[in-house]
Amino acid sequence: MASKIGIAADHAGKELKQLVADFVGLKNFEVIDYGVAYDSNKSVDYPDYAAILAADVASGKIDRGVLICGTGIGMCITANKFPGVRAAQVWDEFTARMSRAHNDANIICLGARVTNHHRAVELVNLWLDTPFEGSRHQSRLDKIREIEKKLGKR
Ligand code: RB5
Repeated sequence: MASKIGIAADHAGKELKQLVADFVGLKNFEVIDYGVAYDSNKSVDYPDYAAILAADVASGKIDRGVLICGTGIGMCITANKFPGVRAAQVWDEFTARMSRAHNDANIICLGARVTNHHRAVELVNLWLDTPFEGSRHQSRLDKIREIEKKLGKR
């Protein structure tokens, strides 16, 4: 069971980040906020925020993470550069559930400009509560690890 959940957003996702962080805290997870601050009015670069959170997922410092930008795309591209990170862009119940059940996604990426914010919180709830199914899906994840090793991403 994941206990430490990191959360980060760029300027486009900071309001949704606050909603999600409050909700995740109410579920009794330890929430680690990587910014950008809710009251910041600067425009920031999503790779900076994705990288600090994804590095901590990769090292095991935190169990899972939530990354939010305008579309979720930039955060997802950046996070998946880190070995051991399985970041999934999620936009509905099916992708939220499958990203956990089949892909054991350890980061959920959301688009604050494309997904209704209350719906996004529901998707995070579903994502946090859905277990990985293992078995044949584990051997597929093992293949991803092998690819990372071959590419020298250890
Ligand atoms: C920022 O304007 C926007 O490009 C960013 O939030 C994100 O959508 C990138 O993928």
